[in-house]
Amino acid sequence: MTLITVGFVSVIPNRSVVVRAPGKLNLYLKVGDLREDGYHELSTVFQSVSLADEVTIAEHHELHVRLRGGGAVGVPTDRRNLAWQAAELLAEHVGRDPNVDIAILKSIPVAGGMAGGSTDAAAVLVGLAALWGEELEREELLELAAELGSDVPFCVFGGTAIGTGRGELLTSALARATLHWVLAFSGEGLSTPAVYRELDRLRAAGTQPKATDCDELLRALVSGDVSQVAGLLHNDLQPAALSLRPDLRRTLLAGREAGALAGIIAGSGPTCMFLAEDAHHAVDIAAQLAGAGVCQSVRAAHGPARGARVV
Ligand code: C5P
Repeated sequence: MTLITVGFVSVIPNRSVVVRAPGKLNLYLKVGDLREDGYHELSTVFQSVSLADEVTIAEHHELHVRLRGGGAVGVPTDRRNLAWQAAELLAEHVGRDPNVDIAILKSIPVAGGMAGGSTDAAAVLVGLAALWGEELEREELLELAAELGSDVPFCVFGGTAIGTGRGELLTSALARATLHWVLAFSGEGLSTPAVYRELDRLRAAGTQPKATDCDELLRALVSGDVSQVAGLLHNDLQPAALSLRPDLRRTLLAGREAGALAGIIAGSGPTCMFLAEDAHHAVDIAAQLAGAGVCQSVRAAHGPARGARVV
């Protein structure tokens, strides 16, 4: 065993893996009826993007979760954290003790509508299986992922995909062009259940029609025509997110004024996502948005990216 001396302390290096955990965007999100299990029937087009968390998993004497990076303050690091639940679930599945240290470096906003927590959980499933040398079938991994949350299977899957059911039933979709996005982050998160409840409330009041289907968007993604894709971005949760956070209207407007082809709320929000013509255009929009004082911070990202992968 090699001992490394750090200051006066000798530490035994642990075996570890590092996993890149990409965020997701919903290019299209149609919310159907509320089901008996409390979830809504969805039809969505997901895309993984280059903005990613980094999850390092190392052997340890007990299960431990640590978070650092922007927005990590106040996020629970105990059993309430989805990454913790993912470690326990996989350990139980393969008959081991979940004795690992999970260090998450956050870049994806917390409660931002980009599946930040779900992708960390997906990364734990993928990374822990690799650390332990457990070869899981893809279907087995996706089933475990679905137990953790509706977005977790897509975070394992990655790329561009159609999601149905509560979002966990996936079919790959072809996207020919790289899409360049500008993401405007808010200083304060939005609760996903609260946004769905607000949509139910608006619909009960008779103000929210349901979207048409996503076939046209899928055709535009295949053709790689970015301006056509822009015209077909859609999010049924947007009116609910805007009802809870009317200030986001200014962010959406500022993105369009900065020249974005289109801008919508990302998932349940409050992140706003804007489509650019190319990488240069994205940098230009990002710079203008950053100066407009309508959000806390701005990032450019591109998609599709691969799902959670050991690097
Ligand atoms: O599956 P997950 O735990 O990520 O979902 C969080 C919450 O979002 C659910 O408890 C539910 O309130 C809402 N949700 C929903 N319909 C979906 C997905 C999520 O109502 N298809």
